[in-house]
Formats: sequence, structure tokens, C-alpha cells
Amino acid sequence: MQLIVCDSYEEMSTKAADIIGALISEKNDCTLGLATGSTPVGTYRELARRCAQQSLSFSKVCTYNLDEYVGLGPDSDQSYVYFMRDNFFSHIDIDLSNTHLPDGLCADIDAECRRYSDALAALSGGLDLQLLGIGINGHIGFNEPDDIFIPDTHCVELTQSTIEANARFFQTPDEVPRRALTMGVRPIMRAKTVLTLVNGAAKAPILKQALQGPITPHVPVSLLQLHENAIFIADREAAALL
Ligand code: GLP
Repeated sequence: MQLIVCDSYEEMSTKAADIIGALISEKNDCTLGLATGSTPVGTYRELARRCAQQSLSFSKVCTYNLDEYVGLGPDSDQSYVYFMRDNFFSHIDIDLSNTHLPDGLCADIDAECRRYSDALAALSGGLDLQLLGIGINGHIGFNEPDDIFIPDTHCVELTQSTIEANARFFQTPDEVPRRALTMGVRPIMRAKTVLTLVNGAAKAPILKQALQGPITPHVPVSLLQLHENAIFIADREAAALL
């Protein structure tokens, strides 16, 4: 496991964009696992800037997002499919048909989970890189703290802590969906590189548990201690307790 500590959010975002950009330069048809939340926004902005300057092209890149709220679709500005278009896809030269997310509006949740798991399982060699943020409770995607690790795509009841943390993106906490579809830990652990970004003092305690605590499903991100090529990039505030 590699830990890179940066002075600022901007430096963290630039370093993450460097790693993703280097992968695309080496393999222009790579497959990326992508994350939502405020953490990767600066990375997406920097990658879009490089794309606008024509130093990077996503024209052959394929993406799979971690998760989506149940009940929200592309027309809702709180959905993750909307977030990805708004913050990233509409600013780069990616072919939208190469971008994938679980469908929060699906009629049959079990069938949708199977469809997404099968698509991920069918990727030969798995994702080339999975980009992650972490929740203050240690969740990755929406793999919430639990007694077990769940390998494949599943529907999850969000914890109170996650509902409260994500309420800032909604008008009121009542509007936060109570359920989400999320990739399980199998495709994340199968990714050739897992790049986790962590910034801000609020994440310092969970980053310490993630890197220096026991490997436990009660802190899902701690599983990355077992990944052969896990890179954490943290700003000084998040790394303060290490
Ligand atoms: C959401 C997402 C996670 C993300 C987390 C942290 O719950 N499902 O994938 O990592 O939020 O969000 P933020 O980056 O805003 O702290």
C-alpha cells in the first residue's frame, strides 16, 4: 500500500489526475471505476482541463460507477448519473455509451444487481483502475459497515451517518433516498489499481482506522490493506493522525 500526502486538495487532485492520465496514455481503451461525492470533483475538473487542452482523450475509455440511489434517475440532479454528466462526462470526449452506472430507476432490483455484477465480472482482467472516496464511517461506494463483506452488486439500506453526511447535497435530510445500489467489494479488490482520495480533518479518524486498524467489514475501506496496488492520496488534514 502506498500513501502520498499532499499539502492541499488541489495538489491531491492533480496527483490523482496524473495517475489516471498516465494510465490512459499507456492504455487508451482502459476501463475505469469511478466515484461520486465531493472528493473526486477536483480530479474530474483537472482531467477535463487536460482533455480540453487535447493532452488526454477519453474517446476509447470505458467507465463503471460505484453506485446509484434507488429511485433517482438522469432527470434528478441528485442522482449519480446526473452528477457524473454534470461534473465529468459532459466536459470530456467520452462516448456516453461507454459509461455505466447501476440503474436507480430499475423495475427489478435483483435483476439490475445481477446485470451490473455480470457486466463487471465479464471485464477481462477487471477494472484497470478504481477511483474511490471514503465515507466518514469508512464506506466505499455504498458498502456500508456491516458484519460481512458483500462481494457483488447489492441493494443497501443507507446508515443514519451516511444519510446525514449526504444530506448536504439535498434540500432536506428527508429527501435523501434510504436505499442505494452499490458495486460490492469483489470488483474493487479485483481492480489492478485502487486509487483512494481522502481530504479534510473530518476524515482523519477513519483514514487512521483504514490504514492502521484491523481489517474488518465494520470499516469497509480497511479491506484495501490486502490489495496489492492500493494507492491512498491524502491531504495533510486527513493524514494528521497517521
Ligand atoms: C457517497 C458515495 C461514496 C463517497 C462518499 C464520500 O456516500 N457513495 O462513494 O466516497 O459519499 O463523499 P465525499 O467525497 O463527499 O466525502
